[in-house]
Amino acid sequence: MTNLFGDLNPPPRILMGPGPVGIDPRVLRAMSMPMLGQFDPAFTAYMNETMELLRQLYQTRNKWSFLIDGTARAGVEAILVSVVSPGDKVLVPSFGRFGFLLAEIVKRCGGEAIVLEREWGTVFTPDEIEAAIRKHNPRVLAVVHGDTSTTMAQPLAQIGDICRRHDALLYTDATASLGGMNVAIDAWKVDAASSGLQKCLSGPPGSSPITFNERVAEAVRRRRHVEGGIRPAGFVEGDGPIISSNYFDLGMLMDYWSEMRLNHHTEATSMLYAAREAVRIVLAEGLEHCFARHRLASDALTAGLVAMGLKLFGDQRHKMPNVTGVYIPDGVNGDAVRGIMLNDFGIEIGTSFGPLHGRIWRIGTMGYVCRKENVLICLGALEAALRQCGFGARAGAGVDAALAVYRKADMPAVRSAAS
Ligand SMILES: Cc1ncc(COP(=O)(O)O)c(C=O)c1O
Repeated sequence: MTNLFGDLNPPPRILMGPGPVGIDPRVLRAMSMPMLGQFDPAFTAYMNETMELLRQLYQTRNKWSFLIDGTARAGVEAILVSVVSPGDKVLVPSFGRFGFLLAEIVKRCGGEAIVLEREWGTVFTPDEIEAAIRKHNPRVLAVVHGDTSTTMAQPLAQIGDICRRHDALLYTDATASLGGMNVAIDAWKVDAASSGLQKCLSGPPGSSPITFNERVAEAVRRRRHVEGGIRPAGFVEGDGPIISSNYFDLGMLMDYWSEMRLNHHTEATSMLYAAREAVRIVLAEGLEHCFARHRLASDALTAGLVAMGLKLFGDQRHKMPNVTGVYIPDGVNGDAVRGIMLNDFGIEIGTSFGPLHGRIWRIGTMGYVCRKENVLICLGALEAALRQCGFGARAGAGVDAALAVYRKADMPAVRSAAS
């Protein structure tokens, strides 16, 4: 029954799906801070600090590291619409749902998307990517880093060099990986990347941290345009085709996020507070510790699932540490298990898309939720739900196996910025 004027009082949940995840209370606190005017020096200082925090998070010296207002796909779209001109060839090695999203956006930008497909649960070798670049000679290679739909992470360490050799720009969607595993933008020679707050950064959906280097900035400047009413005297337009989105025009956003402070949109103040706090928390914990915490949770969770008699999905050498795919056993109704997890235990786990829908569950251990107690509670609840649905998991096997992994680890299960 609806109650229009009832209190907003969401049921408490442990969000262990592929995102969004539970928000760190410190991020929620940051979001309740007072509003500031857009050009208040206190606010522009927060903008600059957010840029510096993002550089450290992305392990880059890129000046252009800032926020796009919108969910993660807003960042994807801002980069692609600003970089891909009509007619440009973009190679998209796709190993899951979000590869198709990149290709779709490229097409909407008027680009020619060349999609390389691979069986879900696997990733591309550098040689496969290089061979396709040789064949198609794209201007841009757009690839998802970690695809939550399959739980796989595409290794990128060698792809940047390949792209440079063939004079292609490399863009990656790091929505699911940033903060949970290594994303080394400069070392890997990634030209542009985007992400979201709602996964390993423990924030709400609605802000997309992006970064790009001078190669991308140059390409954007060639398409430079400033809307009437704020155009500075003597402004000269770029000679490339105008970027077909105003909101996502990286050129105008660069003018807004730089010393020029040329007004564009009204920056989403509370989301900027959230992003600044979310990134600050990850950096204060330490990137290496944060990655190790995600790896440990993944090791414990997968050990528990296997001990319960379940089979993991995909090439385990390339599984992201922050989300785990596991086959739904034959004869078990996957949605019924998820229903019991949610309604009896207050735990959300994910289903999947496309060819994997109804075949695997996806269990997230991301950001603030990536903690020993959640891994153990989730395994205990899953075991009980499976038994209710006719699958006889050995009582206690999952939790015991996960506990053993945690006991063996030589790192504290959780060390937050505060401790
Ligand atoms: C790899 C990847 N890219 C893009 C997105 C889209 O993000 P959003 O729903 O925040 O727009 C997601 C969301 O799950 C994702 O996992």
